[in-house]
Amino acid sequence: MSLFKDMLRDSESLFKDSVALDYDYIPKIVPYRENEQRYIASCIKPLLHERNGKNLLIHGSPGVGKTVAVKHLFKELEEETDEIYPIYINCWQKNTTYKIIIEICESLGYRFTQNKKTNELLAVVKKILNKKSAVFCFDEADKVEDFDFIYFLIENIYRKTILLVTNFKDWVIDLDDRIRSRLALEFLEFRKYNAEEIKGILNQRLKYAFVDGVWEETGFNFAAEKTADIGDIRSGLYILKEAGNIAEERSSKTITKIDVQKAISKLDEFKIKKKEELDDEEQMILGIIKNNSGKKIGELYKIYHENKGKGVYKTFQRKIKKLEENKFISTSKVLGGKEGTTTMVSYQEKKLTDF
Ligand SMILES: Nc1ncnc2c1ncn2[C@@H]1O[C@H](COP(=O)(O)OP(=O)(O)O)[C@@H](O)[C@H]1O
Ligand SMILES: [Mg+2]
Repeated sequence: MSLFKDMLRDSESLFKDSVALDYDYIPKIVPYRENEQRYIASCIKPLLHERNGKNLLIHGSPGVGKTVAVKHLFKELEEETDEIYPIYINCWQKNTTYKIIIEICESLGYRFTQNKKTNELLAVVKKILNKKSAVFCFDEADKVEDFDFIYFLIENIYRKTILLVTNFKDWVIDLDDRIRSRLALEFLEFRKYNAEEIKGILNQRLKYAFVDGVWEETGFNFAAEKTADIGDIRSGLYILKEAGNIAEERSSKTITKIDVQKAISKLDEFKIKKKEELDDEEQMILGIIKNNSGKKIGELYKIYHENKGKGVYKTFQRKIKKLEENKFISTSKVLGGKEGTTTMVSYQEKKLTDF
C-alpha cells in the first residue's frame, strides 16, 4: 500500500483556486507598484474634494502591471466612495468614439443606447457624470482611431481624471500636441521588474492558486528564472499552471522541476513551430523588429534594405501585416505626428492567451 501513499487521489487536486493564475485576476495587493498606485491616487484625490483631478499618461513595456495596478486602484476607490465613477475601457476592443461612449453608458448602467446617435449618447453621459465626478482609464490608448471623445470629456465633464495607458513610449512622444496641452498630461513610467520582483509576484499568485506545500522549491525557482528571462509575468503564470496540470496528470502530490521543464518546453515548442512556418524573408524582418522594437515602419524598411532585403515597400507592409496577424509583432498608429500618421512596430512575445 505504501507504494500509493504519495499519489494523488482522484478527488484531490494540487490547485486551491486556479482562477488566481488567470491573466485578468486582480490580487488583493499589487506588490512593487505601491508608489505608482499612490501617484495615480494623488491625481484622483482632488475629486474627493469636489475639485478637478489631474490627467496622467502611464507607459511601460507589456506585462509590467499597468493594467492590474489601475484596476486594483479602481476597486479600492469603489469601496471607498460613491462620489466618483471609475470607468475602465480597453481601447483594443473599443477603438472609436461611438464604441467608447456606448461602453461608458454601459458601465454607468444606462441601457437605452439603441438607435441613439453619438451626440445623444454624449448628452446622456454628460448629464449622469456631472452629478458626481469620474475617473476614466483608457487602456491600450494607442489603439484609438479618433480622439473626439477625449475632446468631449475635456470640455463637458467638470470634475474628472483621465488616465491614458500604453505600451509604447514613442506614442507618447508623438501624441498630438493639442491633446497633450489640453489635458496637461503628467507622465508615469512603469519600469520593468527585476528578477527578484518577478519571483515575489509569482510566489504571491502561487500561494493563492495552489494547496500549501505542493511546490518543490527548485521547481518554483526554475519557473521564476525562466520568467525573468522572458520578462513578462504572463509567461510565468502560464508555466505555473501548466506545471500543475502536468504534475496532476501523473497523480503526483508535488510539482517538481521536471514538471516545470515540461511546461516550459510546451511554451517553446509552440513558438518554434509557428516561427518555422514563416518564410526566410519574414524571419529576417522579424529579427530586425526584435532588435529595433518600437521604431517606425519607415525606419524599419530602411534597415531591411541595408540588410539586403529586396521587397518593395508595399511587399514589406504586407509582411508586417502578416506578422501582426500571427501576433509575432504588434503595431500602433500615431495620429498627427510630425510626419502625419505613421505606424510603429513592436516585437511581441506570442500572447499566451492564444494557446
Ligand atoms: N505587481 C504585480 N502583482 C501581482 N500581479 C502582477 C503584478 N504585475 C503584473 N502582474 C500580473 O502580470 C500580468 C500582466 O500584468 P498587466 O497588468 O496585464 O501588464 P500590462 O498592462 O503592463 O501589460 C497580469 O496577470 C497581472 O495580474
Ligand atoms: Mg495592460
